[in-house]
Amino acid sequence: DAAEKSGYDHYMLKEIHEQPRALRQTISGRIDADDGTVDVDVDLPSEYVDSIEEIQIVACGTSNYAGRYAAELLESVVDVRTTVEVASEYEFDGGRDPWRTLVVAVTQSGETADTLSAIRRAKRAGARTLAVTNTLGSTIVRETDDSVFIRAGPEIGVAATKTFASQVATLTLLAVRIGRARGSLSYARARELLESVRRLPNAVQGVLDREDRIREVAREYADSDAFFFVGRRFGHPVALEGALKLKEISYDHAEGFPAGELKHGPLALVTDETPVLALLTDGSRPDETLNNVKEVQARGAPVIGATTADGDGEVAADPTHLDVDLPVPAAGVLEPLVANVYWQLFAYHVADEKGRPIDRPRNLAKSVTVE
Ligand code: AGP
Repeated sequence: DAAEKSGYDHYMLKEIHEQPRALRQTISGRIDADDGTVDVDVDLPSEYVDSIEEIQIVACGTSNYAGRYAAELLESVVDVRTTVEVASEYEFDGGRDPWRTLVVAVTQSGETADTLSAIRRAKRAGARTLAVTNTLGSTIVRETDDSVFIRAGPEIGVAATKTFASQVATLTLLAVRIGRARGSLSYARARELLESVRRLPNAVQGVLDREDRIREVAREYADSDAFFFVGRRFGHPVALEGALKLKEISYDHAEGFPAGELKHGPLALVTDETPVLALLTDGSRPDETLNNVKEVQARGAPVIGATTADGDGEVAADPTHLDVDLPVPAAGVLEPLVANVYWQLFAYHVADEKGRPIDRPRNLAKSVTVE
């Protein structure tokens, strides 16, 4: 068992640290950054790609948040209306022509019953279906028209970590693939996005190298009453994912919000005993989020912020006096994905401090095969 964990105390920690390698595998051989093109080996004929009117993403839990990240990208890159649904809530609403609706199932295991059932519904309605999965030979692969593999390698910990990063990276490649094929994505923007993807492994390593700092921070705040994660745009799904990870393995109360929503209700819960973890990187509208940070600071809440690093990889000038400022290496719109690694480490070390059974949290299963 110890050998399988390569010296780490838990699979989750091992898998968090495997992310640079997993991302390299995800990307390997799929990008031509000079050309601004992507080859993800997917069967999407150009007549079909041109005809797509809507993309619907169906997924659960962490995979759903990866889908939300991708939906933001797809809307801007592919210029097609993109919706994301929790698979258990999915009703096919593909409009007049289901064939013009591409339904994408995002699932690490490929066995999640809710996601399978959503895909079956879409197929019955006549939509084209695509799986984005980590698992060759899984049920979702057999049941969809085609599959793209995220190639993250096996994930044992119940808490999904490296597969989230590889899902978002794969979906970014897919967005570039579809955007280029439709002509909606310029060469310059495609290159820029692919450059962000290419930077991911090293950027994530930059965060992992600061684990000692985040462990200290986790220990300092572990006994708080509750934890709130906020972010805008690409920072929003990461806020949701950060909160899910923490509640799943530490059993603490944690919630994620779009930063602008705080003042519409959740602010009532904010006290000096509720740390706020804020995404303040590129891709998460940091200037607007800073206003929300000031609102919670005024209520005494400690703020742990992830901000875009300066050219030396260090904390850039901080106008808000964050209680903790965590530098995130540059990766454009994928910076929130890189910052997420801080939230993973935070969740892990809070849970570890409390002696939780991190790889097998109570009441949860790695793959949920009941509806
Ligand atoms: C993530 O930490 C969870 N364990 C859970 O939300 C998971 O992402 C969800 O059950 C979906 O699983 P899948 O990706 O295998 O479909």
